[in-house]
Amino acid sequence: MTAGAADGRARVVEDYRRHVGEGVARVAETLGTPVEERSEGPYVWDSAGRRYLQCGGYGVFILGHRHPRVVRALHRQLDLHPLATRSLLSGALATASAELVGAAPEGLERVYFGCTGAEAVETAFKLARANGRRRILAMRGGFHGKTLGALAATDRLAFQQPFRPLLPGVEFVPYGDVAALAAALAGGDPAVVVVEPVQGEGGVRIPPPGYLAGVLAACRAHGALLVVDEIQTGLGRLGTMWGWDVPGEHPDMLLVGKALGGGCVPVSAVLATAAAFRPLDRAPRLHSSTFSGYPLGAAAVTATLAVLADEKIPDRAARLGERIDALVRAALDGVPGVREVRSRGLLLGVELAAPALAGRFSAALLDAGVLATPSLGADTVVRLTPPAVLEETDLEWLDTALGAAAAALSAEETTWRPPGRTG
Ligand SMILES: Cc1ncc(COP(=O)(O)O)c(C=O)c1O
Repeated sequence: MTAGAADGRARVVEDYRRHVGEGVARVAETLGTPVEERSEGPYVWDSAGRRYLQCGGYGVFILGHRHPRVVRALHRQLDLHPLATRSLLSGALATASAELVGAAPEGLERVYFGCTGAEAVETAFKLARANGRRRILAMRGGFHGKTLGALAATDRLAFQQPFRPLLPGVEFVPYGDVAALAAALAGGDPAVVVVEPVQGEGGVRIPPPGYLAGVLAACRAHGALLVVDEIQTGLGRLGTMWGWDVPGEHPDMLLVGKALGGGCVPVSAVLATAAAFRPLDRAPRLHSSTFSGYPLGAAAVTATLAVLADEKIPDRAARLGERIDALVRAALDGVPGVREVRSRGLLLGVELAAPALAGRFSAALLDAGVLATPSLGADTVVRLTPPAVLEETDLEWLDTALGAAAAALSAEETTWRPPGRTG
């Protein structure tokens, strides 16, 4: 790092310490976290000019960074009209809504746009209440965001504890267990059920085949509304456009976020059936927000959906996912401290034997020029969520980094002992 870059980084850390938060600054100082400066395709560059392969980003960058078609659409909209008056109609919003409905499972006709995933979750819970469902059944290990309502359905005690009491009427049932869900539904008031097709923040937990069909059947049998949270799994991440896999059927609501803004701007959405949306059809002012459906975000959605279709991103994600799964398994085979590798499409999780090892693995990947993400609901799982636009040379880059990270874990074995082992 040049002296100028080092000074620049020190200034950023100091501003973080003074204004963003001492905790974040402390961690950055301890780990020597670089300062990101620019991005393009699957790479991010830091202020010292080093580049990193994007395999993290909490699942946002399925198209990579600054996809040219999304950037072009954004420039056009920025020059034309970025934010809505909210007094007139928006053509950009109308188009994005129609395109999103066209790309969604059939039967989901209405769209409410937001900016964050948690906002989509809040909207879905409000719609459920307006439809008479005041009881929420959520899944053990599930993650739905950190606003007060979404947090109530996020199964992570450490995140919930300081903020209690949260939304009342939330119960958790085991993920992947249709019988347990049906029993809970049978034993109480009409409910709304919220479920992820694969639990991302929960540590890449993959349910048994047919799970969503079973969940839908249980909901239908007991008069429950079903909300499928595809904020992380949707838009190609799992190697299919959606994680929802029940042919000819649809949930009552489907939530999407993260990649919806094409990796350039924040956008989320609730897709709902006309029946579930009826309270807002009747009284649109019941739920609104200043930036809902803003034209810049809407332009990004329309461009993103076009790229997903034209570049067959879900198919590419499926093929790349198989390749990367094989690379990860080969690199980590027999490496001490590695418990399991789980993946579907381009959502991969490496489970380690202890949180400290997960930290070591992530740090070694970063040193080797690869960004990975921790799992907010599982301290021992490091996630890889690469873009679907990786080329052969990018895979070589990743493979080299995985080799370095595997060596770092092996070296760690001299100082770390699995629980129960002595000496
Ligand atoms: C499945 C799921 N739902 C909701 C959220 C919350 O999204 P946001 O952080 O944009 O509020 C996340 C974020 O990781 C998520 O993975």
